Amino acid sequence: MTSYLGVIGGSGLYQIDGLQHPEWVTVDTPWGAPSDQILTGMLGDTYMAFLPRHGRGHVHSPSTVPYRANIDALKRIGATDIVSVSACGSFREDMAPGDFVIVDQFIDRTFAREKSFFGQGCVAHVSVAHPTCPRLGAACAEAARAAGVTVHDSGTYLAMEGPQFSTLAESKMYRDSWGADVIGMTNMPEAKLAREAELCYASVAMITDYDSWHPDHGEVDVTQIIATLLGNAGKARDMVARLPALLGSEDRGPCQHGCDRALEHAILTAPD
Ligand code: ADE
Repeated sequence: MTSYLGVIGGSGLYQIDGLQHPEWVTVDTPWGAPSDQILTGMLGDTYMAFLPRHGRGHVHSPSTVPYRANIDALKRIGATDIVSVSACGSFREDMAPGDFVIVDQFIDRTFAREKSFFGQGCVAHVSVAHPTCPRLGAACAEAARAAGVTVHDSGTYLAMEGPQFSTLAESKMYRDSWGADVIGMTNMPEAKLAREAELCYASVAMITDYDSWHPDHGEVDVTQIIATLLGNAGKARDMVARLPALLGSEDRGPCQHGCDRALEHAILTAPD
């Protein structure tokens, strides 16, 4: 199977540079409409699909993003790999605003979202012990470094419901007791759903702030986040543009990490 790269862009990533034959297409799903139309096209020999997570014009809040429809729409269009790009706060001094973190673990504190494709008529329990695809994450790290970004190869992402930012007590608890490295509002249930859909998933956290724990930095606010994002948007687009060459357009066979076979031993309901 060749890679068909789906990119879910968060705040700060709204387009793909150099896309050939670009076309916005409407995709319907049994889970409703995705956040927006999907921009399809080719980069070199690689099929690409880009979905703005919050919709053009930023109309979906983290709690109202139609996560199931987004993942299903990308699967229906043919995506094999999903790279999720999102703005995040940092709990680590050395993960500074402007750096990118290749997330490989999550703590899911969201509570007001549909989190599974399963449960009515068909029950499945997939493993998300290792929720991201190492091959795809490594490609993102290499592409981001080539784009001039300081990259951290691993990190634990605390997914919060929002839309408010954390209290100081929460921020300190996530950092000191729970060992989280970055915080954001959107990667869950996205990562869980990608696994249920048997898609390779990598998450690139673009650090915009130190949340509220850092004694030398003020409280986080949207103006600060947008200023850092604007500085970084070009690098995020550069990273995406470099991915096809790294992923290759040749047949890559089954995923070495089993992402594309996640349901093999996961379905409990007896077949009809
Ligand atoms: N997105 C960007 N910065 C964030 C923060 N500090 N908390 C949650 N989501 C964020």
